[in-house]
Amino acid sequence: MTVVAARAPAKVNVHLAVGPLRPDGFHELRTVYLAVSLFDTVTVRPGDGLALTVSGEGTGAARGADLVPADRRNLVWRAAELLAASSGVPADATIEIAKSIPAAAGLAGGSADAAAALVALDALWGTRASREDLVGLAAKLGSDVPFSLLGGVALGAGRGEQVTPVLARTRWNWVLGIAGEGLSTPAVYGELDRLRAAGRVPAGEDLAAAEPVIAALRSGPPDALASSLVNDLQAPALALRPELGRALRTATDAGALAALVSGSGPTVAALAADERDAVRLTAELAGAGVFRTVRAVHGPVPGARLVG
Ligand code: C5P
Repeated sequence: MTVVAARAPAKVNVHLAVGPLRPDGFHELRTVYLAVSLFDTVTVRPGDGLALTVSGEGTGAARGADLVPADRRNLVWRAAELLAASSGVPADATIEIAKSIPAAAGLAGGSADAAAALVALDALWGTRASREDLVGLAAKLGSDVPFSLLGGVALGAGRGEQVTPVLARTRWNWVLGIAGEGLSTPAVYGELDRLRAAGRVPAGEDLAAAEPVIAALRSGPPDALASSLVNDLQAPALALRPELGRALRTATDAGALAALVSGSGPTVAALAADERDAVRLTAELAGAGVFRTVRAVHGPVPGARLVG
């Protein structure tokens, strides 16, 4: 095989309940992931050692080039080394990441790249790892990487890496608005700990149950989903980035059924009533001058898979 490509989706957390800080530096989560139709593609070829290039969204010299490093700091590089070590093959590949998912946006773009790289390199190297093996490697790479492999809708527990698929037949339409520069995930979790220590948000001992949002995802109507969305990281993201308040209001003023911060932000995910409404909402949000990028997406969509 001389060239293999795989793509993996962005995600929105429609439920993100964050428990207290654990001794290992992570927070216990109950989350519901929804994979949405915004994809990064990873293309791999035979090589001598590892070589990595990155192109697309957020990779220009002018903005955020350092958010997506093209060296061993990139999760894709680590994914390649991990798969090679675990399957006893040399880590030889030339890897290209083509990004559509904005970096450091709360959309799991880096995790999508890592998941796509595992799938593509497994095919290139003929390592024939089982899905279970890949999920095990994914969990070592990052909390969201197992979900990026799985896709669809899933309940996430532990630090997010323990994923259980959830059946959802309905197709949900969202508009993603990316406001301002990227936010660091550890900084947002750290701000949540500070807000909790200061008594400004609830302590997080009782994790909000995911059942209402799962029931709403299964059967709708969209209003039920709109009223059951939860994100404990929204308060700290707003504390670090007050302009996000205006971005959220812009989305609800434009008629979104609900708007919440996606993961650790700063992306605003606005729920549309249907596909037509999503087209209208996209135009309104693009014209509002608050977001640097506005994308209509739908979900659930499948996880990392080979393309071409
Ligand atoms: O697992 P991942 O590398 O994506 O996590 C990045 C950072 O986000 C962690 O180092 C930690 O600071 C924070 N995090 C957390 N609790 C989680 C997941 C991530 O505190 N469940």
